Amino acid sequence: MNCQFDPSALQLQALLAEGCFGSSVALYRYFDQFFVIKTIPYNSPDYAYQAVLKEHTVLSQLNHPRIIQYFGYFQTPISWNIMLEFADRGNLATFLERRIRDGAFLNQHTIMAKFGDIADGLIYLHFRNVIHRDLKPANVLICVDNRLKLADFGMSKIMHEDDLNRTIVGTPLYMAPEVARGRDYDYKSDVWALGIIFYELCMLEHPFMERLVQGLKKKFRVPRVACEQHGLSPTMQMLCDMMIQVDPEKRWTLENILKQQAVQQLLNRTD
Ligand SMILES: Nc1ncnc2c1ncn2[C@@H]1O[C@H](COP(=O)(O)OP(=O)(O)OP(=O)(O)O)[C@@H](O)[C@H]1O
Ligand SMILES: [Mg+2]
Repeated sequence: MNCQFDPSALQLQALLAEGCFGSSVALYRYFDQFFVIKTIPYNSPDYAYQAVLKEHTVLSQLNHPRIIQYFGYFQTPISWNIMLEFADRGNLATFLERRIRDGAFLNQHTIMAKFGDIADGLIYLHFRNVIHRDLKPANVLICVDNRLKLADFGMSKIMHEDDLNRTIVGTPLYMAPEVARGRDYDYKSDVWALGIIFYELCMLEHPFMERLVQGLKKKFRVPRVACEQHGLSPTMQMLCDMMIQVDPEKRWTLENILKQQAVQQLLNRTD
């Protein structure tokens, strides 16, 4: 924020999320503008504090319509704070929960629009050498125009040449197998998470819930989208086949997925 910024003029409008150890995400009014402020008290555990600092470092280098906009940071005597654009319609996890509760399946157009938004955000991130590493519906925000933006960069990593990544980070339900096993991983671990989200958009359930509950014993198979039952194109299954592959070598890069004509057609990007 610029030097005239006066934190005492911020008016709390709503608490959006509360973390452990006093961290919070809240909507504030600052004169005629609204901001979301993520606050982390100085006395928070190191990992929580580091996550917000990381978010500041990464977000301050990014600028894209599908990434939540960062406006800067400020400090108070007790906390570190980052200021973000407000996504009016909450997160994709809540959206999916509502749809599941109502049994309201999404049509192909809506699924592809949401897939396209997340994919565009990821393509930009990967182009800027950033792996998100914690892509999940709760970290995808919905704006007033129903477009999506990627958020929560506390686990992200800026890749440097020859970087080997072995730190186990992310949320188990969306964690790529190579990450969970502590193997080397790269941008393709975000593609796995996108695949899981894509499947959830199609089927309103997590593809591996049963496997996870039963303890991962069954042989892995790419989950099946009930395309015919839900009036979806077979390309939706093809997309799952490209993204939800245990072997990262077999998993497609997002760039190549988006180059496929069948995918372009479903995204209405053929011109
Ligand atoms: N800019 C924003 N606009 C609207 N809602 C937001 C915004 N940022 C965060 N939120 C809400 O707060 C929730 C938590 O935000 P975020 O994931 O960035 O914080 P976090 O402290 O890393 O939380 P967690 O540890 O639960 O992932 C989001 O799922 C979303 O519902
Ligand atoms: Mg989060």
